[in-house]
Amino acid sequence: MKNLVEWSEELSVGIEEIDEQHKIIVGLVNRLYEGIIHQSDTVLIQSILDELVQYTIIHFAVEESLMRIFDYPYYEEHKHAHQELTKHVIDLQKKFRLGKVSINMELLSFLRKWVTTHILGDDKKYTPYFLEKGLKTSWNKRTSWMGKIWQSVHQ
Ligand SMILES: [Fe+2]
Repeated sequence: MKNLVEWSEELSVGIEEIDEQHKIIVGLVNRLYEGIIHQSDTVLIQSILDELVQYTIIHFAVEESLMRIFDYPYYEEHKHAHQELTKHVIDLQKKFRLGKVSINMELLSFLRKWVTTHILGDDKKYTPYFLEKGLKTSWNKRTSWMGKIWQSVHQ
C-alpha cells in the first residue's frame, strides 16, 4: 500500500534530529491513512490521532525552544503557525471523540497538506539561521534526549 505522505529528501530540513521528529509525524499520518483504508475500529484510529496530537505538541515545543535559544527573528510568526496547526488537530481529535466527524479522505488530505506545507514553507526557513548560529546538522543518536523521552513513554 502506498503511503499518504512519502518521506523524501525534499522534506528534509537538513537537521537530523528535526528530520527524525518530522518522520514520526509523517509516520503517524500514514498510520491514520492505513487505518481508514482498512476500516480499522474507532478505538485504534482514536489512539493514533491522540498520539499525533501528543507528539505534535512535543515536537513544536522542541522547535520553539531551539528558536528561543538562537533568538530566531521569526519566532513569533512560527509560534503562531504552530498554534494554528495545534488548534486544528486538537479540534479534529475532539470532534472525532464526540463522533461528530469521521476521518475521511478529505481530512487526510488536510493532514497531508498540514504536514508538508508547514515543513516546506516554514520549517525550512530556520535551517540556515540555526546552522549559522552553530547548530550541528546531526547529534549523537545515543544522546538524543527527545528520542529517549518519546520511547520511554511509548514502549
Ligand atoms: Fe515548525
